[in-house]
Amino acid sequence: MTRGVAILGSTGSIGTTALRVLARQRERFRISALTAHSNAALLEEQVAQFHPAYVGLVRPNGGAGAWRTGPECLVEAASRKDVDVVLNAVVGAAGLDATLAALERGKRVALANKETLVMGGELVSQASARGGGEIVPVDSEHSAILQCIGSRPRSEVRRLVITASGGPFRDWPREKLETATLADALRHPTWRMGRKITVDSATLANKALEVIEAHYLFGISYDRIDVVVHPQSVVHSFVEFVDGSVIAQMGMPSMELPVLYALTHPERVHDAGVPPYDPVEMSPLTFERVRWDDFPALRLGIKAGRAGGALPAVFNAANEEAVAQFLDGRITFGGIARAIEGAMRSLTNRSADSLEALRAADCAARTYVKEMVAC
Ligand SMILES: NC(=O)c1ccc[n+]([C@@H]2O[C@H](COP(=O)([O-])OP(=O)(O)OC[C@H]3O[C@@H](n4cnc5c(N)ncnc54)[C@H](OP(=O)(O)O)[C@@H]3O)[C@@H](O)[C@H]2O)c1
Repeated sequence: MTRGVAILGSTGSIGTTALRVLARQRERFRISALTAHSNAALLEEQVAQFHPAYVGLVRPNGGAGAWRTGPECLVEAASRKDVDVVLNAVVGAAGLDATLAALERGKRVALANKETLVMGGELVSQASARGGGEIVPVDSEHSAILQCIGSRPRSEVRRLVITASGGPFRDWPREKLETATLADALRHPTWRMGRKITVDSATLANKALEVIEAHYLFGISYDRIDVVVHPQSVVHSFVEFVDGSVIAQMGMPSMELPVLYALTHPERVHDAGVPPYDPVEMSPLTFERVRWDDFPALRLGIKAGRAGGALPAVFNAANEEAVAQFLDGRITFGGIARAIEGAMRSLTNRSADSLEALRAADCAARTYVKEMVAC
């Protein structure tokens, strides 16, 4: 029997990768639902190829025919009876409700949308406990950790070491970073991704999101999660065990394998579409310390994660808004971290025990950044 998959954000980098992967796995999976934000032309091509029963377009800029429209389409797609696995590949906080809805209904969420966990980690864990749903990560680093930990108890894990490519500014001097251009920031050395995550990789905010994501996914405290720079992106992360043994998961830098593994875990199947790994060809593998003082967004995000409450949601929303302003040319590259820091300093940290509380924190952080930019 095939399993039904809903892809939320099917027109994006992860969404299109997933469709490429799933086109080779038709005996295991069928596409039950596809959603996009506004790219109707690409969505239409995907519908013609995969014939999903449900199609949603958040913001149609013309006729959407029989497609469902509006932001509710994400939750509708994630809640359908014919959907077993929800691949959440939406970018940003917009993906939260759909993750919660799928987990409440006992489905697997293959999670690329890390902002969901950062913003609402506690609520997501509760939804999963209530409904019996499970999260399997799509991020290559978390997929690696999952594969390294296997079924070992957390008490045997001493430390997680998350690798970071270092982004396009890994070896830029500090003074040059302030005025790095958008074109510079979008030139990622190893990964081709959507614009928001590419900028997050340049500021290292992405690594902060991943540290918080790892904390929630694997139940490991922040003082046992480290980050190391690894420019080749071949070692996807390490797990150090209490006896000193260190297990790493490696492979070519391609998202096809983590996407497929999130769908099939714990099984491994043929034809992930990943080029074979040649250790000699890929050598040398190098590792460097993080330049914490030069990439303040990383430190700020981890500080927010440690503080808990609504501060991770503030960090996430301030970052989303600041990146949008940078993409629109309204602030400098250095302004992104300053906007995050300002929002975290100015807004009182409250508890995050309800969706309303999270939304209020999210909204306050966005408003803070918009007003700061307008001044
Ligand atoms: N790209 C990677 O290699 C990678 C790796 C690990 C994790 N991730 C994570 O995966 C997520 C997606 O990243 P991406 O690089 O694939 O982003 P992307 O290329 O920008 O794609 C985003 C997708 O989400 C849709 N979307 C955007 N805003 C939306 C909204 N408000 N409501 C509903 N749908 C919306 C977009 O639709 P339209 O096309 O119609 O705008 C598109 O389908 C992010 O959380 C990212 O951090 C990405």
